[in-house]
Amino acid sequence: MIRSLRGMNDILPPENLRFEHFLQTATAVAKRYGFTYVETPLLEETALFKRSVGESSDIVGKEMYQFTDKGGNDVCLRPEGTAGVVRAFVQHKLDRAGGIHRYFYHGPMFRYERPQKGRLREFHQFGCESFGVASVYEDVTVIMMVADIFKALGIGYRLKINSLGDRNCMPQYREKLIGFLDKHEAHICEDCTRRKATNPIRVLDCKNEHCQAVYADAPKLIDNLCEGCGEDFHTLKKILDENGIAYEVDTHLVRGLDYYSKTAFEFVSDAIGAQSAIAGGGRYDRLVEFLDGRPTPAVGFAIGIERLLELIEMPETKRSGYYMGAMDDESLPQILKLAARKRASDSVVVEYGAKSLKAHLKGADRINARWCVVIGENERNAGTVWVKDLEAKSESVVPAGEL
Ligand code: HAM
Repeated sequence: MIRSLRGMNDILPPENLRFEHFLQTATAVAKRYGFTYVETPLLEETALFKRSVGESSDIVGKEMYQFTDKGGNDVCLRPEGTAGVVRAFVQHKLDRAGGIHRYFYHGPMFRYERPQKGRLREFHQFGCESFGVASVYEDVTVIMMVADIFKALGIGYRLKINSLGDRNCMPQYREKLIGFLDKHEAHICEDCTRRKATNPIRVLDCKNEHCQAVYADAPKLIDNLCEGCGEDFHTLKKILDENGIAYEVDTHLVRGLDYYSKTAFEFVSDAIGAQSAIAGGGRYDRLVEFLDGRPTPAVGFAIGIERLLELIEMPETKRSGYYMGAMDDESLPQILKLAARKRASDSVVVEYGAKSLKAHLKGADRINARWCVVIGENERNAGTVWVKDLEAKSESVVPAGEL
């Protein structure tokens, strides 16, 4: 038997309903915030992710599904969605058009990680990217969007925020942090020693307990912000407070992708185990420029759909649609005609086998249909149908044309 690859899941009943409910809910919320749906390819040039997510990140350094295609191009399956959307934004000269562009997308992402609960090699994200607004109000808006999506799905969360500074304050902070790491070199892990050389702030989210004990005393980003970044962070907290969105400032939140500046945030759930991040995002004001576009401020987020599935509260399922069946083979053509007509406005499931009324009622109940419609010899001759409303538990015979 051929099986799916490790870390790559099928989404089948009953989980499919949760997945679909998530997409419908998130799509509706994104549209209410003025975002519009976009698609970008699953396969991109490897250079795109190296330049955006960053060569020192685990995602690019260790986890890419990278290969040479038949034309000799170095390509890889997208590990995340932001880079592709920014590439498309620049390629189609939307950066030159000016104005505000707000996009949402969903689909599979691929990271060659060690599979475990909540960590897959193919997983799905729902993401939003907003281009052209430098104001921190847009950061709050996208955070509120995520909060709205989770609220609509009945999902509890904790929101963590941090500021990563910008080109004015980040370089100085980096130097300070390197100075601190130099002093504590003997007490940090090998990975952190490597990070110190490639991307020092990534040490702050090291999972090693000893390192974490050392970093408790490390200089904090938020104490080293320039005036502009400090003001924005203050405003961010103030507006979240005013809107009743609870948050924790996590000074070690640095995110696993290199393109962020200023606002960074993560939504975590305490109900799903070690892989607790259910959404992450932040501002990335320099990425458009890094990908050869005109400098354009941007902010966005992505939600990991699989991690949410067990948390989603499904709305009560009501009976809906039609079940139709014939009691003899001769009546089946009429059932098919009726089904074709009713499908213009309703869902209809047809049973092709000739069965007794009792068997059809069972079938209708099994699929949770609201209406069970049956034609037998009598109805066929009279041009009528027998119909039962399974909710009101009432039955009647009506002319077929009036169903
Ligand atoms: P990220 O934090 O790498 O951000 O991923 C976002 C979410 O995807 C995570 O919070 C998690 O729920 C889910 N996720 C990540 N890796 C896995 C995995 N291996 N298995 C299952 N779920 C996973 C980004 O990808 C950024 N592009 C978000 C963004 C958009 N920032 C700005 N705009």
